[in-house]
Amino acid sequence: MILPKLVLCAAFVTPALAQCTYSFLQNITASYLAAQTSGQPAAFSSATYTENFRAVSIASGVISRPLKIDHNRSLHDTTQCATYTEVVVANGANHYVIGTQIRLTGTAITQVDSIVTTRGDWLFNATGTLYYASREDWFTIPEAERDTRAVIQAGGDAYLDLFNNPRVVVPWGTPCARLEGGAYTGRGLPSDSCNVGVPSGVALVNRRYVIDETVGSVDVFLAFGGPNGRPDSHEFRLEKGKLRFVHTLTDMA
Ligand SMILES: *[C@@H]1O[C@H](CO)[C@@H](O)[C@H](O)[C@H]1NC(C)=O
Ligand SMILES: *[C@@H]1O[C@H](CO)[C@@H](O)[C@H](O)[C@H]1NC(C)=O
Ligand SMILES: *[C@@H]1O[C@H](CO)[C@@H](O)[C@H](O)[C@H]1NC(C)=O
Repeated sequence: MILPKLVLCAAFVTPALAQCTYSFLQNITASYLAAQTSGQPAAFSSATYTENFRAVSIASGVISRPLKIDHNRSLHDTTQCATYTEVVVANGANHYVIGTQIRLTGTAITQVDSIVTTRGDWLFNATGTLYYASREDWFTIPEAERDTRAVIQAGGDAYLDLFNNPRVVVPWGTPCARLEGGAYTGRGLPSDSCNVGVPSGVALVNRRYVIDETVGSVDVFLAFGGPNGRPDSHEFRLEKGKLRFVHTLTDMA
């Protein structure tokens, strides 16, 4: 009787959902890192590829340039079947901080979108980014203490809304540190706050999210300053509903 039961189950579970497990997505981010390291993105050749919101041929993109990666960290969103990876390259002549969102349809990689920052971009200093990012602890949160997707997204959205509405209530946490380009607000004190000012009158729109509850995080790709604004990534980590880390990348080209 085991076989008919399996067949019945298979009929009710779409292959796409059945495949989009955390470990399947970890393989996707591992394969993205391998592609960027070797400069051979064959596994991604059927995907739409953009850099800083512009369509780019994958063969001429930064992903086709072999780079020694000094730091990486990824989010895996099993609900949307999507990933986000932060990549820091700070060696030799190459200095980049790259944020990449990957989206799948079924088990096929259909979209790869990167925010690529380098010298000249907002507060860019890959040496600084490497230094601070590699000292932060984005540990896996014990299951009983995890925030929901809705709480995590709302925390990120509240911070982003503050740029255009000073009355928004943001779930500030302490300690909290902001890494913006290579600049860091954290001083290593328990009282460190991320509530140290943001610009005003700036609309952060066209938000595209990747959410990973296991690490309390959401990455948001957005247009900074209206629909034709600058390509930007804001990544947030919350612990117990409160902001703990904020990482930003902004393309100024
Ligand atoms: C992940 O990759 C490994 C090595 O290629 C493979 O054995 C494993 O089945 C993959 N896991 C999933 C869930 O795709
Ligand atoms: C990505 O980071 C992990 C540690 O967080 C490390 O084990 C792995 O080697 C890194 N991958 C690459 C390609 O640098
Ligand atoms: C970049 O960051 C490093 C490490 O924090 C720092 O030593 C260096 O002075 C910074 N460079 C610039 C140009 O700000």
